[in-house]
Amino acid sequence: MAELTNETEKSAKKVCLSGIQPTGTVTLGNYLGAVQNWQNMQNDFNSIFFIADLHALTVRRDPSELKQTSLSFFAQLLACGINPEKSMLYFQSQVHEHAELAWILNCNTYVGETSRMTQFKDKSAKHADNINMGLMDYPVLMAADILLFQSDLVPVGIDQKQHLELTRDIAIRFNNLYGETFKVPEGYIPPMGAKICSLQDPTVKMSKSDPNPKATISVIEDEASIIKKFKSAVTDSGSEIVMREDKPGVSNLITIYAAIEGKTPAQVEAEFAGQGYGTFKLAVGEAVAAKFKPIKEDYERLLKDKTFIENTAKGGAEYASYIAQKTLKKVKKKVGLISF
Ligand code: TRP
Repeated sequence: MAELTNETEKSAKKVCLSGIQPTGTVTLGNYLGAVQNWQNMQNDFNSIFFIADLHALTVRRDPSELKQTSLSFFAQLLACGINPEKSMLYFQSQVHEHAELAWILNCNTYVGETSRMTQFKDKSAKHADNINMGLMDYPVLMAADILLFQSDLVPVGIDQKQHLELTRDIAIRFNNLYGETFKVPEGYIPPMGAKICSLQDPTVKMSKSDPNPKATISVIEDEASIIKKFKSAVTDSGSEIVMREDKPGVSNLITIYAAIEGKTPAQVEAEFAGQGYGTFKLAVGEAVAAKFKPIKEDYERLLKDKTFIENTAKGGAEYASYIAQKTLKKVKKKVGLISF
């Protein structure tokens, strides 16, 4: 067979898209559950990754804090190995097509569909004084993010599964009403996605919004702090280092160590057989700290280079906008909006 040119090779690749909200910092849970997978997908997919800053507006945020966090997130993703030469990387708010498509999709989504979303109900309870339209519309904007790029694969955490199903419903409905327009995307929940738990309560997911700072680890945390947190991680009764349902604390640590070291849980169990919790916790802390050290260094270097960040983000947004226009034009035409 003839050799593929770069262009044909590119277009033959499937499209993978995901977004991350700029809150707190990228945690160990985000890293193992999402960002590390993104990094691996860059070679096999046409990859699109963005900072979901419009989604972030659905809860009240201090403007200067949001801006700082968004920039910091961008630098953290770069430092984690998202390569702007291989992937599109940009801020959602800089590509107006996201919001524009969301409006049209809004007119094809029922209030009943969005108001029954689990996340909407949870967030409404949590932010009872600010149940704004955006909070309910969150999954429709997410559908726009995904459908705009004719995405094949959308890696998300288990908590976003319902939103992905709604995206598929919206795409199918639109296609039936107006003719084939959107690719119906597949969700992809990475095996690790749901599994990284709080270091203080291993029965709940590690979350950037956890009020207890000892519960989470950040990719830009210093070595001493990481090791200290692992040393004080909650473990279970007994002393065996095994993956078992009645040992959520130790199981969480095994999962983390295995993912960081590229080993299977069984290999980790064998490695630490007969050793105590103390030794094991220290080893996990050291492994995580060693993995994050270069990320932290890269992050600090990048954050100082404002011009690089700005140019990279602009370049990403321009290219994303160019691709997004294709779908948006088609959609506008299909629904009967004027085009000259
Ligand atoms: N809602 C996602 C989350 O909180 C972030 C997100 C926004 C997203 N738009 C997306 C993820 C589109 C995948 C695809 O995790």
